[in-house]
Amino acid sequence: LLPVNTKLIPKVARHFEELESTNNAVIRALNAGEEIVNGAVFISDAQTAGRGQGTNHWFASPGANLTLSMAAYPDHLSVSRLFALNQLSGLAVADTVKKFLPEGLAAGVRLKWPNDVYVGQQKIAGILVQNGLRGSSVSWSVIGIGLNVNENSFPESLQQSATSLALLTGHNFNLQEVLAFLLERLAANYQLISPDLLRELNERYHQELYRLNVPARYQLTEGGENFFAVLRGVNEAGQLRLELAEGGERVFSLREVRFV
Ligand code: BTN
Repeated sequence: LLPVNTKLIPKVARHFEELESTNNAVIRALNAGEEIVNGAVFISDAQTAGRGQGTNHWFASPGANLTLSMAAYPDHLSVSRLFALNQLSGLAVADTVKKFLPEGLAAGVRLKWPNDVYVGQQKIAGILVQNGLRGSSVSWSVIGIGLNVNENSFPESLQQSATSLALLTGHNFNLQEVLAFLLERLAANYQLISPDLLRELNERYHQELYRLNVPARYQLTEGGENFFAVLRGVNEAGQLRLELAEGGERVFSLREVRFV
């Protein structure tokens, strides 16, 4: 028998017109002891302080995009494999992007480590997973997703690097439809975090991985030194495996390296 919390039926539990951050709202509710069911989705038309990885801000014009967070209790997942949550959600978002793009563009959809979704050289979605640990097990997880759907004007600093479904295709999309597809994919992929399916999840993640086996430049966060390397994959702990030009492989955590 599968553990109780393996089955997930994501549903919009709370809809807000404006909020500082849907991730914060879910975490606040959890900390306040509110009953938040597995798969509960908090969604907001606008965020005043949307958060990205590290200290980044998440930009999204009010009403144009999907900004949501899903609560989950992956208590059957060991802490050492928590990266599987990034993988399953990244794949769900990538599938959603592909579903709504014409074939030619869909072919350029990739997951950029750890779990940004790219179309060609531009970012269309970002994911922020936060976990609450109780001792050595996972007490709760929040999967925050920002997907640029009908965004048509990014601030200048993002104009080159960011895109949306609307900017790519020249027409707007029904947010409800995109949301329904995304939630269905999240539910399907959540099944993959059972012990015997993690390998399949990992394989699928690598099939979509941006720059896999491609020589490219990377930069050390500390010191800013640039170097050439070939991305050989991501290990179970979610670290980037880079084959260095001088030979040998080194693993890097998110804080240690960035793509150039
Ligand atoms: C990143 O690209 O660095 C991650 C971006 C994650 C953005 C989403 S929007 C909904 C949820 N609430 C937040 O404050 N952040 C995530």
